[in-house]
Amino acid sequence: MYLTREEEKILDGESGPALARAMRLLVCLGDLGGAERFVPIRRSQIAGISYKTSGDPTLELIESLAQEKATVRTRASLNPAGMDLNRWEDMGIPPAFAEKQLRICSAYRRLRVIPSCTCTPYLSGNKPLFGETVGFSESSAIAFVNSIIGARTNRHGGLDALSAALVGKVPLMGYLLDKNRVGTIRVRIDFEPKNEADYSALGYFIGKSVKTDEVPVIEGIEQASTDKLKLLGAASAASGSVALFHVIGRTPEVLSKSTRAGMRNLRSELHVGKNEILSVYEELGAGEEPDLVFIGCPHCSVHEIATVADLLSGRKVKKRTKLWVFTSPQVLRNVERLGYVNKIRIAGGDVFRHTCMVVAPIEDLGFKCVYTNSAKAAFYIPRMTQGKCAARFLSLMDCIRICTTS
Ligand code: F3S
Repeated sequence: MYLTREEEKILDGESGPALARAMRLLVCLGDLGGAERFVPIRRSQIAGISYKTSGDPTLELIESLAQEKATVRTRASLNPAGMDLNRWEDMGIPPAFAEKQLRICSAYRRLRVIPSCTCTPYLSGNKPLFGETVGFSESSAIAFVNSIIGARTNRHGGLDALSAALVGKVPLMGYLLDKNRVGTIRVRIDFEPKNEADYSALGYFIGKSVKTDEVPVIEGIEQASTDKLKLLGAASAASGSVALFHVIGRTPEVLSKSTRAGMRNLRSELHVGKNEILSVYEELGAGEEPDLVFIGCPHCSVHEIATVADLLSGRKVKKRTKLWVFTSPQVLRNVERLGYVNKIRIAGGDVFRHTCMVVAPIEDLGFKCVYTNSAKAAFYIPRMTQGKCAARFLSLMDCIRICTTS
């Protein structure tokens, strides 16, 4: 990679050991990805902060960076932690876990990272512009900002996103380049998705079916709302590794010259009909009676929480089941003001922020079977709990019907 004089100085340690280590990692990444140079970024999203998924090595690393007085050079936000940082006792989180998680978040704060702890930073004050280059980790946020906003990020891991935030630069390669953003496979939808879960199932099926680094061009869902595309993107990044997709008539880059030219030459094609969608519900349909219904993967928008509150109207959550909804602190403040949180709590449910049931230590909370309207969550929960907790994927309406009485 070509390095400017200033970048060479950082690499040589003139800006301190933390920045030198970060620069070394980014240069390695750039060399591996064939980048010729760095480009500046002004935003980052840093994943891998839950103590459950990152453990003591991350805690030690972030505390040592904070001790070295390193600070980020971008508007950097955090992905979900392993618990609601304020109400962890209400979730039943063990104090030993909470102590470590609070230390991780406090160290990040000293690095000047915004402790928003959400996987939907674009709904919470860290939304890139169309065409803006950013350094995001968190697969669902990567798919969202690349596809729905038309910003540009590569698929970063937590450590390289943090390094990029410290240096304020990313290697120019991969999805930052026009040539890698052109659609490579046409996806024809031969059914009408009925609800949010069908979109999540569709994303799951696409992710499983296309090869790494393919860019699907989806036809037939131009009516999809942003919330539904959010679920679709999250599931496609979970079952596979989709980081960018286009939806004809819906996502912004479909209109760009290079994408339009590329679409005329799409050679492979995938058809998704009712049977393919049913196969996803079947595959993610483990578990009998739920002891938890988990809504909010990715974290809920205001509209999604309003829908939950409406569906709960006149109903009560059954005693043996919990209904937990997850969102960002910013969205939580808004839905509290609008009265939706109160409605959910009156019905016996609860709303938490900062976390989700994939990155929280769910196996320590005693849950054995989770129902969720997110294919991503249903895919990960059994894997993240080594099979101790089963998960069933179904629509929000079915989740609410099953866990409540009228
Ligand atoms: Fe977000 Fe957790 Fe799902 S981080 S995308 S709610 S697995």
